[in-house]
This record gives sequence, C-alpha cells and structure tokens, in this order.
Amino acid sequence: MDFKKVVAKHLKAKLNTGLTEQQLFDLLETPKHPGNGDIAFPCFTLAKMQKDSPVLIAANLEPQLAGSQFEKVRATGPYLNFFLNKQKVSQEVLTSILEQASGFGDHSFGLGKKVPIDMSSPNIAKPFSMGHLRSTVIGNSIANILRKCGFDVIRINHLGDWGTQFGKLITAYKAWGSKTSVRENPIRELFALYIKFHQQAELNPSLEEQGRAWFKKLEAGDEEALYLWKWFRDESLKEFNKIYALLDVSFDSYKGEAFYNDKMAEVVDIIEKAGLLEEDGGAMVVKLDEHGLPPSLIRKTDGATLYVTRDLAASIFRYRTYKFDKTIYVVGNEQSLHFRQLKMVLSKLGYSWADDLIHLPFGMILKDGKKMSTRKGKVVLLEEVLEQSISLANKNITEKNPHLDNKEQIAREVGVGAVIFHDLRNDRMNNIEFSLEEMLKFEGETGPYLQYTHARACSLLFKSRVLLETGQLYRLDDQHSWAVIKRLAVFPHAIEKAYTLLEPSVIAKYLIELAKAFNSFYGNVRILEENNALVSRLALVQATAIVLKEGLRLLGIKAPEQM
Ligand code: ARG
Repeated sequence: MDFKKVVAKHLKAKLNTGLTEQQLFDLLETPKHPGNGDIAFPCFTLAKMQKDSPVLIAANLEPQLAGSQFEKVRATGPYLNFFLNKQKVSQEVLTSILEQASGFGDHSFGLGKKVPIDMSSPNIAKPFSMGHLRSTVIGNSIANILRKCGFDVIRINHLGDWGTQFGKLITAYKAWGSKTSVRENPIRELFALYIKFHQQAELNPSLEEQGRAWFKKLEAGDEEALYLWKWFRDESLKEFNKIYALLDVSFDSYKGEAFYNDKMAEVVDIIEKAGLLEEDGGAMVVKLDEHGLPPSLIRKTDGATLYVTRDLAASIFRYRTYKFDKTIYVVGNEQSLHFRQLKMVLSKLGYSWADDLIHLPFGMILKDGKKMSTRKGKVVLLEEVLEQSISLANKNITEKNPHLDNKEQIAREVGVGAVIFHDLRNDRMNNIEFSLEEMLKFEGETGPYLQYTHARACSLLFKSRVLLETGQLYRLDDQHSWAVIKRLAVFPHAIEKAYTLLEPSVIAKYLIELAKAFNSFYGNVRILEENNALVSRLALVQATAIVLKEGLRLLGIKAPEQM
C-alpha cells in the first residue's frame, strides 16, 4: 500500500485544485514527527496559484477532507496532515501478509517477458576478484527482484574463457608449468604462471610472439592447445563453483566467450555486409566518431577477434535464443565505454533491440583509495574472506548460543550474509573501500542484524505457541506497532522502486528501517502478555518475520530461524 497514493487519490477526488493526481502525489511529504500524522500536504503551491496564504488555504480545506481511510485530517500551519485509520490499515496489511506469505509484494508487470542477466563472469585461470563478487551478488539480487516482479530471468555466466591471454598462459605453462602443481592449486598456480609470463616478456619480447601464436592455434582448434585450455577451464570452474556454492548462486547458462568462437565469422560477415567494417592500420574496426566514441576494434592485425567481437556474437545469439524484452549486463563501471560501443555497433547494424541492452554498472572496491589490480598479483582472495567471515560467525554463535543445532550451517548463512549485505547496502555506484573489518561487522546496520531480528521474531512465535489463523480481526493502535505496520505496508512499493532503479540497496535500506521499527516495538511492548490484543501482536510479529525473510531472500541472504 502506498500511503501517498491513497492521499493523492483522496485529494484529487475531494478538491478542485487544478492539479493532477500525479502533481498532488509529488507534493506530498512524510512528516518527521509522528504528532504531525502520516502524510502531509504542504499548501505552498496552491497558495501561489490562488495568491492566498497557505495557512488560510489549509484551514479552509480541512473540513472538506474527512474520509474513512483517515482517523482525522488536521490543518497545522501551512500543512494539511493526514492521520491514517490505524485499525483499518493494520487489518488490511496484516491480513494480506499472512494470507499471501512469501507472495506478499509479488508484482505481475513482468509476466511473459524474458530478461537474460549477464552476471559474475569471472576470468578463467585468474582469482575470483572482489569486482566479480560485486557482479555476482548484485546480479543475483537483481535477478531475484525481477523474478518477484514476474519476469522470466535467465542468469548467464559469460565466463572470460577466451582471448589472447590463453595463448600466453599456454606458453607459460609449457615453459615453466607442472601438471601436479596445477592440479593441487589450480588458480594460484595458473595465475602465478600468468604473472611470470608478463615479467619474463619484458626481458624477452619473443614470448609475446609465442603467446599470440598459441592463441591462433587455439582459435583454429589445435588439439594440444584445446586440451590444455579445456583443462585450465575445468580446474578453474571447480574453484569458482566452491564460491558459488557458498553464496548459493546458480546459473542457467555458463556459455562464456569461448562458446562464440565458431560464431565470429558470421558476425564479421554481418558487419562487413552492412558496410561498416573499415581498415585501420591493418586491423578491422567499426568507426564511431560521429557518435563521439573511439572505433570498436573487431579483428586484430593478426586476424584474432576481441572481447567486443565476442560480445557482439553473444548479444545476437541471445536475442535469437530468448527474444528478450531487455537484457542486463552487471559489469563494473570501468567497462562503460565498452558497452556504449557495443550498443552503438548493434544499432548501426539495424538491430532495434540494441536499445534494450542495459549496462548496469557498479563502483569499484578500493584498497587504500586505489583500484585493486590483478596484474601485480596483489589481490584479496574472496574465498578467504568468506571463510574468515564464516569462522567469525561461528565464534559469535558459539558464545551466544552454544547448544544450537545445525551450528555449522547457520554460521555459514550468517558469515556469507554479512559479506553480501555489506556489498548491497550502499548504492551500487558507490566505490567501496575494502575493509575486512567492516565486512565482518555483525553489529549496526548489517546482514547479521537483520538475520538476528528475524530469528528473534521466530523465537517469539515459537514461545507463544499460538497458532495464527487468517481471517481474524486485528486491533493495534499503539505507536510502536503502527511504526512497524507502516513499514510492512510499503514492502511492495520498495520492491517496485528497487526494480525501477535496478538497485538492491533500496531493499537493503528498507529492511534496516523495518528491523529498527520492529526492535523498538520489541523493546517497548509486552508482546506475549495474555490479553485481547495478543493475537494481533503475534500477527504483527509473524508478518515481520515473513517480510524480513522474503526481503533477505531478494538480496540472496538466508534467514535462519535461530542463531
Ligand atoms: N570477464 C569480464 C571481466 O572480468 C566480464 C564480462 C562481462 N560480460 C560481458 N558480456 N562482457 O572483465
């Protein structure tokens, strides 16, 4: 329920202001102080239109605005303050949450529409970076939010498993690598080989030549090259899958860059037939200067294709496969130019769906204010971060609740939840300074705080031993319950906003507000006291548990019932 909409509709129906419902809606405010009601309508705009005092206007309009949705409407200075009918709203909100359970907040505007989401997409033979973590958790949450809005989402892991770097890696492996060490610790070993290659290539430039030659062989399907590549890919995927298992994220497709190798010729052909392929110093490019963009490099001098060529092939393939309504690429902000070029080339090729490609960028994770670089080998290993977080959660749980069943599982959910929430609570475009300490904080506005609030609600329900049935009459009118009810009521609205902005932090912030309101209710109201409002209070507790759990699910975080 969107209270502002309720008030805007009411104003429109009751008054002849000359403003549209939307204009009225845009003027509405939420009073800071509960004594000023739930929604306020400032009369300054009307005052300007009518050349009259806003205080007088408010006073004059007050008597015309009574309605059953409101306990009262009061003019206070230049404002009209609307006090919602608490009984009516509580009844409506609690009934619909208890009836719909996790379906509360579902929308249907996405039904029948397909949205492939390109997310995570780490590079084979390299560590899974913090940037890839961001893409994974943001992408997963966006996918959950879209699904909640009815869309048919397809999670695609566009693995970075192709490109000249694999030629370099094969060269390095053949020069210095060993089978057993790659088997023992694939990513670390392959990454070390890759770094060594770059160090050695500075002294011995012919290595670069060999790297290029190996990649050409790979592209041409050479047996040895393909065998090594496949082995590196399999070993890397095994490692990545450990992280995906911890995060509980899965994909509908692992078609990475390599998948498009045999589709390159067609793409180059399409570009050529459209008359867009031009030579530029031996390489083939699509010029984009009239759009203020640098040329898009399609084929290198030696004939090798590039990242953008593979993305062109991928988008065409995905359109053919899914006929998508739109498609979202969850990739760091530093690749903005790449996606602008990609879209521009597609639209020059005449694909009208180019407009439906959305690059969803996010900020960087910084270390001491600087970008973390994989090249130099200074990376924080994500798996270690997750493991530390889990073991810290384990320690906390052991202190607080030593006899908990299922402790390991819960520690995993809490530790991982802390890391995910730390990422999703800020607007996605913000850069985040990497701090393990911050990530592992379990107090304040954190994932574990939300999980803890949910577990607290569950334990109240368990203790009460009352079985709630739907179709009851709920009576709640104290200010603490009311604050919770108001938050609960706007959950569907928060989901819609998160969808419109493609911004999981909207849900994260919503949940923090809900948990705060609930905890203040918990601290101020004797919830389990036996009186005629017990069932109503328990309904409120149950509804809060439902919404917290569902909200956390949308972020990709579990909600254990005990912790
Ligand atoms: N593998 C790339 C990287 O790590 C990200 C790929 C993003 N997806 C895409 N379709 N380009 O930078």
